[in-house]
Amino acid sequence: MDKQKYYKFEIDYNTNHFNEFPHDIFTNEEKDLYLKIKKRKEELGDKLVILAHHYQSKWITELGDFVGDSFQLSKEASMMKNAEKIIFAGVHFMAESADILSSDKQKVYLPNIKAGCPMADMTSLQDLEFAWEEIHKNLNGEKIIPITYMNSTAEVKAFCGAHGGAVCTSSNADKIFEWAFTVGDKVMFMPDKNLGMNTANKLGIPKNEQVLYDLSKENGGHTKEDIKNSKVILWNGYCHVHKFFSVEMVKNLKEKYDDYKLIVHPEASPDIVALADGIGSTKYIVDYVKASKPGDTIIIGTEINLVYRLAEEYKDRNIFPLRKSLCPNMYRINMVNLYETIMDFPEERVITVGDKTKANAKKALDRMLEFG
Ligand code: 13P
Ligand code: SF4
Repeated sequence: MDKQKYYKFEIDYNTNHFNEFPHDIFTNEEKDLYLKIKKRKEELGDKLVILAHHYQSKWITELGDFVGDSFQLSKEASMMKNAEKIIFAGVHFMAESADILSSDKQKVYLPNIKAGCPMADMTSLQDLEFAWEEIHKNLNGEKIIPITYMNSTAEVKAFCGAHGGAVCTSSNADKIFEWAFTVGDKVMFMPDKNLGMNTANKLGIPKNEQVLYDLSKENGGHTKEDIKNSKVILWNGYCHVHKFFSVEMVKNLKEKYDDYKLIVHPEASPDIVALADGIGSTKYIVDYVKASKPGDTIIIGTEINLVYRLAEEYKDRNIFPLRKSLCPNMYRINMVNLYETIMDFPEERVITVGDKTKANAKKALDRMLEFG
């Protein structure tokens, strides 16, 4: 297959559609693997479950038993008691969460263990412990509730579980923040500063009560008073796939379209969120498109594979990406490594979280799942 072609999709502004969908370019070899995977799935029956994130390419999602956002998939993982094996078509932190939430008898496989999430890796346990201690030196007993985005390592989730905190996803961050303020005085949020700021803004927390903790500076770059007066302390992480979108791109939309709605994922910066008509998780975006009417023009600011799929599924709407932004890590899952995994279930692709980390991380995840 000419892989370069994947990046060459252009939008035809006359017909208002992508001129070609990436999954239409499928080699014979990939088609063959797709059919073999399907057959193997049938043989394995309910002993196997494939969970696929919305950012996976179309043919991978077609093979998924469940396709969803990270919250939906973690719920599925916690309910799949019959499946001996779970293959996670997503990135490393998602497979870790599935391992934490599944039973000890189940094994979770990530088809390519190099499929990580750079944002999740922006908060290490060591840095978090350092920051936690430094921040507390500014306080006189005020209680901080640590909340981590699902996009974080199992160790960071365990830290939150052990310190009375919780996990959240982009679909429930506001509810989890609200809960945190009923049991504590401040929230410390990792790793995504954008989701943290967007959530704080949604809850009406003034900007001067949101502090961005910069690990490279003493006291995160803040005075004692700043920290004491803050409500939300934000880690300085971000997702490069969503950081790619700019206010300029949003402003340019007006030149191209007369009437449109802009829908963005909350990992985009607050400047962009302020200009959007709808903000939410990948599930929210899918539901928004479903509820729209034929002829509507919807511009979507999130990962390109989801936008392609929605544009293909809803050809009677005009669906465009704010800009093509691909998550290279999600894209690391492909027909070849999915086929190898389902045929041989290689041990080196099993994702296992250690017992102590698992127990504490589970507390933080369960706290989130209680919010439904
Ligand atoms: P969702 O929580 O919307 O599934 O997003 C996960 C993710 O990685 C977005 O970049
Ligand atoms: Fe991580 Fe961003 Fe990819 Fe989501 S889109 S998995 S946050 S790198």
